[in-house]
Amino acid sequence: MDFKLTEEHIMIRDAARDFANSELLPGVIERDDKQEFPTEQIKKMGELGFLGMMASPEYGGGGMDTVSYVLAMEEISKIDASASVVMSVNNSLVCWGLDTFGNEEQKEKYLTKLTTGESIGAFCLSEPEAGSDATSQKTTAIDHGDHYILNGTKNWITNGSTADFYLVIAQTDREKKHKGINAFIVEKTWEGFEIGPKENKLGIRGSDTHSLIFNDVKVPKENRIGEDGFGFKFAMKTLAGGRIGIAAQALGIAGGAYELALKYSKERKAFGTEICNHQAIAFKLADMHVAIEAARLLVMKAAVDKDNKENYDLSGAMAKLYASQVAMEVSVEAVQVHGGNGFVKDYHVERMMRDAKITQIYEGTSEIQKIVISRSIING
Ligand code: CAA
Ligand code: FAD
Repeated sequence: MDFKLTEEHIMIRDAARDFANSELLPGVIERDDKQEFPTEQIKKMGELGFLGMMASPEYGGGGMDTVSYVLAMEEISKIDASASVVMSVNNSLVCWGLDTFGNEEQKEKYLTKLTTGESIGAFCLSEPEAGSDATSQKTTAIDHGDHYILNGTKNWITNGSTADFYLVIAQTDREKKHKGINAFIVEKTWEGFEIGPKENKLGIRGSDTHSLIFNDVKVPKENRIGEDGFGFKFAMKTLAGGRIGIAAQALGIAGGAYELALKYSKERKAFGTEICNHQAIAFKLADMHVAIEAARLLVMKAAVDKDNKENYDLSGAMAKLYASQVAMEVSVEAVQVHGGNGFVKDYHVERMMRDAKITQIYEGTSEIQKIVISRSIING
């Protein structure tokens, strides 16, 4: 497989790296501390085209391939995983979902605003009693002819209060189980839509996570995505690509932590020499480097599969499972390499360690990725 980057790929990666260093790095510690959403930075990311990278140019998107997207995700995540989850949800769940499955009117009305960052999107599948077990939706959308009435609660929704448009998955006909599920575009200003309190999180604290309450929200029929009953497939197909983005996020967190550990180990002296000269530290760096390169190959394989229109359910799940494990392991070791300094906020690696954990939980936990992988290898 040819993983050689084109000049355009390199340009996009470097632009994302420059942006992350100049715009996201200053203030990243304070935003984490205060749980502050990176409002200005996200606005600039929209202006630079980082929020609708893969969407069709006729709707304001960048028309770029998945490889470009994962390269940019990796660079942004090296510095600020809170900003990169906003980028990930907007790009690979909301914009991709609408671009691929929305109709012309929906794309004109919503996608054109989401690709540019004029509006932000959220993807609402999880519920208090339906996380991994995503078919047990309790939120209902009852058909009333020209509209649906939406009732229920979604939780853990990224961009929960900052979004303008929400893709909401709900049960229209419980008898039909997953075939009775639909996906809808809901606007923030609609009557009966309420945003719950913000979650106080371990990591990605600059991102904005809320529960959402729908109380007799009237959703026009034209806001349903796809045919009646397409909602669960919509969610699964969209998440399959989303997982590649989260894998790239994990890769970026791991890479960021490794780069800091390498630099620190060349500066910090103990027992008369830089600590990288102690084999125990040198071997940690070697293990980190190998794990990151292996994760990168899986992430690139999944991205290339998607770009080549091959099936990427398996490669995306493998990339997410492995890269998230690497993010966790590498960030823990990066703290260790920093000694006491690793345990305080100024050195960034403790934040990266906290941020890494979420990559093993959202967009399908590691156990769910193993379900997807094992079903695929057993059933073909
Ligand atoms: N593409 C298309 N269709 C798919 C599919 C895919 N990748 N995966 C499943 N389906 C279809 C199946 O074919 C089946 O349809 P048919 O009966 O017509 O064949 C239907 O969906 C049900 O599939 P399963 O029987 O496999 O369903 P299941 O109940 O066993 O669950 C699961 C499968 C993979 C565990 C799924 O429930 C799942 O992915 N759970 C995790 C949920 C998740 O990832 N949530 C993330 C929320 S968003 C988020 O987290 C964003 C963020 O943090 C930033
Ligand atoms: P559960 O499903 O209750 O799982 C608990 C444990 O049991 C996990 O370890 C799980 O792996 C394991 N488990 C469950 N079933 C099985 C099984 N069959 N076999 C083996 N192990 C199993 N959701 C959205 O829809 N949109 C968002 O934007 C979003 N953003 C999020 C942001 C954050 C910060 C967080 C924390 C979550 C977010 N989520 C979002 C929700 C996320 O996708 C869910 O938390 C995740 O899918 C797991 O669901 P759960 O929390 O209900 O855990």
